[in-house]
Amino acid sequence: MRQILILIFLVVAVVVAEKFVIRTHEDAIEAHEACREEFNVPDEIFEQYLNYVFPEHRRTKCYMKCFVEKMGLFTVLNGFNEKNFIAQFTYKESKNLASVRHGLEKCLDNNEWESDNCTWVERVFSCWLKINRPVVRKIYGPKN
Ligand SMILES: *[C@@H]1O[C@H](CO)[C@@H](O)[C@H](O)[C@H]1NC(C)=O
Repeated sequence: MRQILILIFLVVAVVVAEKFVIRTHEDAIEAHEACREEFNVPDEIFEQYLNYVFPEHRRTKCYMKCFVEKMGLFTVLNGFNEKNFIAQFTYKESKNLASVRHGLEKCLDNNEWESDNCTWVERVFSCWLKINRPVVRKIYGPKN
């Protein structure tokens, strides 16, 4: 009996741990700060990252990976999570759905080429951002 209870507890814990939580503006800022610290990004580059512009820089690809991991959009094990993208970027404005989906359909890949993880994230997320930058700025912006 006790083993069964422990098992149930573990299953519930795993399910709860996997449930995606919508990130706020504060979460986005926290993720940016943490990734900035990890990758020691110069200020003028960081300012652009904060605005969801990711210029070429030796830190940019891995910074992007750091950021999307912290925002619950990507894991190295499972890649990009489409459901989480849709939940995060449409929860306030369902009209975003079309562009969020369009970006996913156009840009997502399963890294068949086995590029390193940072390159993979940069390739997919830059492509998706091109279509969804205004959405991202709004959802991760100060009023959300
Ligand atoms: C991505 O990261 C994971 C975990 O660190 C690693 O096991 C895997 O080999 C990496 N993938 C590539 C293609 O480098």
